[in-house]
Amino acid sequence: MSGINVGIIGFGTVGAGTVEILTKNREIISSRVGNEVTLRKIADLDIESDRGVPVDRDLLTTEAMDVIDDPDIHVVVELMGGLQKAKEYILKAMERGKHVVTANKALLAESGQEIYQAAEHYGVSLAFEASVGGGIPVIGALRGGLSANHIHTTMGILNGTSNYILSRMTQEGLPYDRVVQEAVELGLAEDPPTLDVDGIDAAHKLAILMSIGFGSAVSFEEIYKEGITELTPDDIRFAGEFGYCIKLLAISRNLGGILEARVHPAMIPKDHIMANVNGAYNAIYLEGDFVGSNVYYGLGAGRRPTGSAVVSDIMDLARQIRLGLKMPMPPLAHVSPPEAGIHIQPMKELNTSYYFRFSVLDSPGVLSKISGILGNHKISIASVIQKGREVNGSVPLVMLTHEARESNVQKAVSLIDGLDVLTGKSMIIRVEGK
Ligand code: HSE
Repeated sequence: MSGINVGIIGFGTVGAGTVEILTKNREIISSRVGNEVTLRKIADLDIESDRGVPVDRDLLTTEAMDVIDDPDIHVVVELMGGLQKAKEYILKAMERGKHVVTANKALLAESGQEIYQAAEHYGVSLAFEASVGGGIPVIGALRGGLSANHIHTTMGILNGTSNYILSRMTQEGLPYDRVVQEAVELGLAEDPPTLDVDGIDAAHKLAILMSIGFGSAVSFEEIYKEGITELTPDDIRFAGEFGYCIKLLAISRNLGGILEARVHPAMIPKDHIMANVNGAYNAIYLEGDFVGSNVYYGLGAGRRPTGSAVVSDIMDLARQIRLGLKMPMPPLAHVSPPEAGIHIQPMKELNTSYYFRFSVLDSPGVLSKISGILGNHKISIASVIQKGREVNGSVPLVMLTHEARESNVQKAVSLIDGLDVLTGKSMIIRVEGK
């Protein structure tokens, strides 16, 4: 074959990064692939705006179908985002026998099963390194270097926007609203950053990692999701006094036949390897039964890192095409997926330690009322701090517990919230990595 031709649908930030690296690193790319990789068409509704990369105008089209229907294009790269149209184009490209690269985490998390099955049905490859962790090659690690292992645990800081917000709240003691407002003004966060700060984006990425790690499409709906919007500088400060920092974590853990799958703010010890992942950086901690612990760290977003991941996928497919491989690797890298599928543990069955912050009246007997309810729900207190009297007489009462069951914690805290000595809503933060 004389060369590999690529068509891109979506010329936004990641599309521009992809074009830039394909152009600037053309020589090293073709030398590593063993064939020329040529950009043949780029489709976008807007073909006028300057993306800051030199591009031959003859490559541009406003019609995605021009890319999909071009018989000379071997690899279609979907970078338009969104759900329905993107899925339609991916399925049409596969139907025409084209290999597909996508960065679309929401689509894979929500309709992955249909797309994975279509790839197998049409005998084409689907690659999606850029969908998780931007430039971090964690999908390659799961599909390749770690593939001999049972994956026991994944723990990810998978959303750079939330991590940036939490890092600034931690380092500068600032409230959530102020940091978000500044991040939006600086163009570092969407306006509003709902998908990021509510844990949805991280849960999309967790669904993809779990699907590869455990060999079967995970139901995104079953992943527990809780965001960072309720966290206060006080919680971050109290966590610090106990020796912890707070991160938005995406966690999966194999409990043997059933999996934990949850995204929420979590307290981790300050000396935990994930505790020092700050700003817009992402990191993924993985544990395999033979390899032990592995950590992957890097920029989880942005034009150049994400473009780098997209082009690594294009190169993988180009190698397969050059070698004339007829049976591509299945999208989830399991030729025989586990028959039993994946079962996710209901959140109420989680067992972990907890941080509680109760806002209470500073009067005699308050602590015993609260500890009585906790005791009745089999929640054992590990340590307590009460901070000084505030102007209105309300004080924060902060506790760490030993391991307890989530259902008991929710019941106990809702009873405590009904006590007449409570002056505000209570805060629960789960503790990890002790
Ligand atoms: N919005 C994501 C983040 C980047 O903040 O990490 C794209 O996945």
